[in-house]
Amino acid sequence: MQLSTKHLLGIRDLSSTDIQTILDTATQFKEVLQRPIKKVPSLRDITIVNLFYENSTRTRISFELAEKRLSADTINFTAGGSSVSKGETLLDTVNNILSMKVDMVVMRHSASGAPHFLAKHIPAVIVNAGDGINEHPTQALLDAFSIREKLGGLEGKRVAIIGDIMHSRVALSNIYLLKKMGAEITVAGPPTLIPKYLQDAFDVRVEYDVKKALAWCDIANVLRIQLERQNQVLFSSLREYNQAFGITRELLESIGKEIYIMHPGPINRGVELDSDVADSGQSIILEQVENGVAVRMAVLYLLSGKRESA
Ligand code: CP
Repeated sequence: MQLSTKHLLGIRDLSSTDIQTILDTATQFKEVLQRPIKKVPSLRDITIVNLFYENSTRTRISFELAEKRLSADTINFTAGGSSVSKGETLLDTVNNILSMKVDMVVMRHSASGAPHFLAKHIPAVIVNAGDGINEHPTQALLDAFSIREKLGGLEGKRVAIIGDIMHSRVALSNIYLLKKMGAEITVAGPPTLIPKYLQDAFDVRVEYDVKKALAWCDIANVLRIQLERQNQVLFSSLREYNQAFGITRELLESIGKEIYIMHPGPINRGVELDSDVADSGQSIILEQVENGVAVRMAVLYLLSGKRESA
């Protein structure tokens, strides 16, 4: 099995067949991860660098674990504590690492398009682990995997994406993926956090009343308010955001049906999501994190055949 692309820079570049292949391969790796010995030799001769120029908990650990489960050699680079502080460029940093015979680069960067730039200049396979406000493809794949597990498929399923859509790479990757796979999408939140172009560009529903979005959907993906990316005031206060757009137990009970709640993490508890929802039986947040390892194993495994020396 092969993907149609050399790199995973974004869901935008994948075909529906690629997405299906990744999700089906992840199902097999999830079965491996249930065994007493959770390791396979698939990437035994491959070295991967995890290049993180921006903070991460889940994605960094998930990729590292996925690499170890596949028997790859891994090295971890974080910009803090490196020669980036002495002015070394991204390209110089990566070329120095690659000269030590590294085959694949997993990269997170605060600049949108950083992995696309790198892909034009280096021979190694690149996996985007989140670039600025552009895409977070493996998050969308693990979200889709989790939806498929819970609802039995993606086609025709109703997914609400709620919160700070404007600053979210998770939202954009989810929208690309869910549209390619035939799901229906409603984006919901305050008008100031939903880009005007979305409705026409992607044929998604836009809803400013979160209760209506919840009542419409089968599953809701609640997104973090990304204060670090907002350079102007886009809503009155966190407290008022929670009152108007936060997912509370009371709100969920008022819609008269049971839906699943997702969140990519990290959660702003008491802002976009209350703790009694995040920690409830309706929440599949930790299952998303668990599924992330199998999905990233699938991505790395499927792209490993694209190495120039392979
Ligand atoms: N979901 C996600 O990207 O989390 P991290 O920022 O902790 O990797």
